[in-house]
Amino acid sequence: MFNTISSQASKLINLTKKEHSRVNSKTKIIAITSGKGGVGKSTITANMAYLFSQYGKNVAVVDADIGLANMQILFNLKPKKTLYDHLENGAKLEEIISQTQYDNISLVAGKSGHNFIHNNSSRLYSRIILDIVALNKYDILLIDTGAGLNDYVQEFLEIADEIVAITTTDPSALTDVYALLKMISTTKKRLFLAFNQTANYKIGQAITQSLKDLALKNRLNRNFMVKYIGNVIPDLNIATTGRLRKLFVKEFAGSSSALDLERIVDSLIKEIK
Ligand SMILES: Nc1ncnc2c1ncn2[C@@H]1O[C@H](COP(=O)(O)OP(=O)(O)O)[C@@H](O)[C@H]1O
Ligand SMILES: [Mg+2]
Repeated sequence: MFNTISSQASKLINLTKKEHSRVNSKTKIIAITSGKGGVGKSTITANMAYLFSQYGKNVAVVDADIGLANMQILFNLKPKKTLYDHLENGAKLEEIISQTQYDNISLVAGKSGHNFIHNNSSRLYSRIILDIVALNKYDILLIDTGAGLNDYVQEFLEIADEIVAITTTDPSALTDVYALLKMISTTKKRLFLAFNQTANYKIGQAITQSLKDLALKNRLNRNFMVKYIGNVIPDLNIATTGRLRKLFVKEFAGSSSALDLERIVDSLIKEIK
């Protein structure tokens, strides 16, 4: 019985992987993840989307924080349809992709408090992502995964072309980010690491080095790369703009925190080319 289920699951996984490589699409899937919740993942994701759009990229954001979706708040949008209307009520893919008030940023919204339970081997979430990729319309597809390393998060990380982990210097956030790093080190080539709420660039750089040293000591896959891409300082304006349903990189363009995130997006653009 177990063998049957797992062989079916692995067939589906292989199918999903094959489909992904088969689809000839310009879309790069970037998953933004964190390990720990509350580190600023969604705020960073929404503001990154804006910076990518300023580079002329057409961006789609998928709110994949299953159960705790809040991306529509950050974009100040009332989506007519969510991811779940597609999964449960037969809404077409096009219907769940909402144009935000920002040029070149679309959102596939989730639904807070809603949890669509599915058999993980069916990989329905990955399929939606791959269907959006297959539209060949977006340059970048940002996935805001939930916190933690549960099956949903793993499903999204698995299909991502690149993974960006957001952490703070908080010891529990670092423990969680190390667990994430360890988990993906066997299947992925690299992880980008950004430090939020971190006073300066060098602190994040030094902590990244300690995480790499620990990985070496624990004999994690040597070919797996952890690449530090910068910090965003703690800034009250970030919390305030979030509450006002606005984007800090737009409202406070040129401020230290906005420049911090610009530097992060600059390095991502260079790396993913
Ligand atoms: N660099 C920062 N400085 C100050 N407040 C921040 C910063 N980054 C995020 N925040 C605030 O922290 C809170 C949690 O952010 P959020 O993006 O919802 O985290 P997550 O998605 O990781 O749970 C929000 O109120 C947000 O405005
Ligand atoms: Mg969030």
